Order: sequence, then structure tokens, then C-alpha cells
Amino acid sequence: MSFIKPLKIGTFTAPNNLVLAPMAGITDTPFRILCLKGGAGLVCAEMVSAHALHYGNPRSGRMLQVAAKEHPVSMQIFGADEQTIAKAARQAQEQGADMVDLNAGCPVKKINKAGAGCVLMKDELKLGRLIEAAVKAVQIPVTLKTRIALNHKELLAVRMAKLAQSAGASAITLHARAAVDVHAGAPLIEAVGEACAAVQIPVIGNGGVQNAEVAKQFLQAGCAGVMIGRAAVGNPFIFQQIQAQLEGQAVPPMTPAQRLQIYQALIEENVAYYGERIGVNRSRKTAGYWINNFPGAAEVRARFVRLDTLPEIKKLFAEVLNNLPQTP
Ligand SMILES: Cc1cc2nc3c(=O)[nH]c(=O)nc-3n(C[C@H](O)[C@H](O)[C@H](O)COP(=O)(O)O)c2cc1C
Repeated sequence: MSFIKPLKIGTFTAPNNLVLAPMAGITDTPFRILCLKGGAGLVCAEMVSAHALHYGNPRSGRMLQVAAKEHPVSMQIFGADEQTIAKAARQAQEQGADMVDLNAGCPVKKINKAGAGCVLMKDELKLGRLIEAAVKAVQIPVTLKTRIALNHKELLAVRMAKLAQSAGASAITLHARAAVDVHAGAPLIEAVGEACAAVQIPVIGNGGVQNAEVAKQFLQAGCAGVMIGRAAVGNPFIFQQIQAQLEGQAVPPMTPAQRLQIYQALIEENVAYYGERIGVNRSRKTAGYWINNFPGAAEVRARFVRLDTLPEIKKLFAEVLNNLPQTP
């Protein structure tokens, strides 16, 4: 049985069904390009506020930009109002996004207070109207990303999938954890499987995919694709590794030295994209994902986060690489 296949979402077909998850502060243009090189079939941008776009916030506007090298890409928007969602979806389309995703799974309080993110799961009429507004506004496919449940009392996966389908979404991503669990705990893959059986649109399974085994469980449950979040940070080549493993090949784990080299390449991309100050600052936030699993890693991280320039970082990494074994 072949698990890796093209992922058809409405009128668009991604070359494979391993998808990079949207992650605020992480899945920006430089990281998305790296994950495409690492074998992702589709990459998702960090969520952008439809409200902020409506008021012309320049930072949010920049977050919608699509670079030539980063297709296929899905732009994620969040909001609570039909007009601003429609406008944001149009902007994403104008910027060159291949599809637009509506966030209805984020559990962050500030977002929920504004009526967006996972609280939309409680108001199906409103969520349906928001999806419809986006679908009417654009020609590219519209997708929904939500969760299997808000809490441990009631599963909503099937309801969400049916709602997405009837409102015109071309696919749904289900994070297989309840909103109350944020990102912790094992994914409830059966709940996603029930949703797969209930709808015709593709269902993308997400949550805890760290290796080929978990990816396979989602695909065997009926998912058209799987979405990988944190396991791709620190290992953007996880997509091609999982593909190879699912095709029966043995894949050696990445060494700390290889991870550090890829991290340096990403920092260089960040500096080229944002300029040195912002590029280095953004890179620092994910240091824990990259500089780990070798003796003295904590000390190297502590030194790294105090550095402000690319030449200083390269000097530190050269020193560390010199002392690290290059093979597993
Ligand atoms: C730092 C971080 C930022 C995230 N930002 C977003 C976001 O902007 N939009 C979204 O839909 N999900 C966001 N998520 C959730 C991920 O897309 C994904 O659903 C979650 O991490 C579970 O997948 P994983 O277990 O493979 O990491 C974020 C997760 C993390 C860790």
C-alpha cells in the first residue's frame, strides 16, 4: 500500500500529502522554503489576523507575502467577522497563495476573546458563515483547520468535518487533541478516522506526528494527508525521511552536527530576508529545537542567545562543529 500520494484539495493538487503545519513565529517564508526543500508537499504560513489586515497593519500585510520559491503554500487567516475574513482571503489570493485556511482551533485567550480560533467550534452557524464568506470571496480553495474537541466531554470531529464540507471548504485539517490540551498528550487518531468516514472532502490529520509510524496511523485511519508541526522545527527534512520510511527505506537519524549546519543555513536565510537584527532575533526563538542532544548543548544555547550578529554566530557554530562528531 502506498501511503505517499498527491494531495488534491479542490482545484489544487500538492505533489505529496505531507504538510507543514502553520506555526506562529516559526513558519515564515525562510522556514517554509526550507521545509519544501525537505520534502513537504504543502507548507502553511503562520496565522494572520483578518482584523489587522483590514486596518492596514504593515506587519500583517508582510506576513501574507508569498515568495516565488515557496509553492505550494497555504495562507492561514483568523478572525470573527465575515467581511474582514472575505477581504483577508482575497488579499491572500492576490498575494499568490495557492489556498487559504481559516483557523478555528487556536486556544490562545487573546484570540478567543476576540471571537476567533477554537471558540468558533461552539458557534457552528457563525463558523459556517465565515467559511462561506471566504469561499465566495476567492477562486482558490478554502480549507478549515480545527480540532477534534474543545474539551474531554464531547468529540466534535465529525460535526466539524460535515460543517466544513457543507459550507464549501475543500479540505479540513483536524488537530487530534482537544483545545483544552493545547499541544500536549497523545493524538486521538480514531476521532479523526470517524470524521474521514463522514465526509467526501479530504481530511488532513495533525497532532504528534514525529515519525513514520504515527503518520501511517493517520493515513490508515482514512486521512488524505498528515500535517507535521513541532517535529519539523529542528528537522525540516522530516518530510522526506517519513516518505522514505513509509516506502520501506531505513533512514539514519540526523546528527547534532547536521542539525546545527541546517540551523546556520536558516539563520543566514532569516538575516537575508529580515535584516540582521530581526533575522537573528527570530532565529533565537527556536534555538531549543536545533541546539540539543549533545553534551554541553545547554551552554552553547546560552552563549548563542547572547549573540547579535551573523559573523559571531558563525564563529560559535564553527567552534562547536569542530568538537562534534560528524557521523551518528
Ligand atoms: C509555536 C506554535 C505556534 C502555532 N501556531 C499556529 C498557528 O498560527 N495556526 C494554527 O492553526 N496552529 C498553530 N499551531 C498548532 C500547530 O499547527 C499544530 O496544530 C500543533 O503544533 C500540533 O501539531 P504537532 O503535534 O505536530 O506539533 C502552533 C503550534 C505551535 C507549537
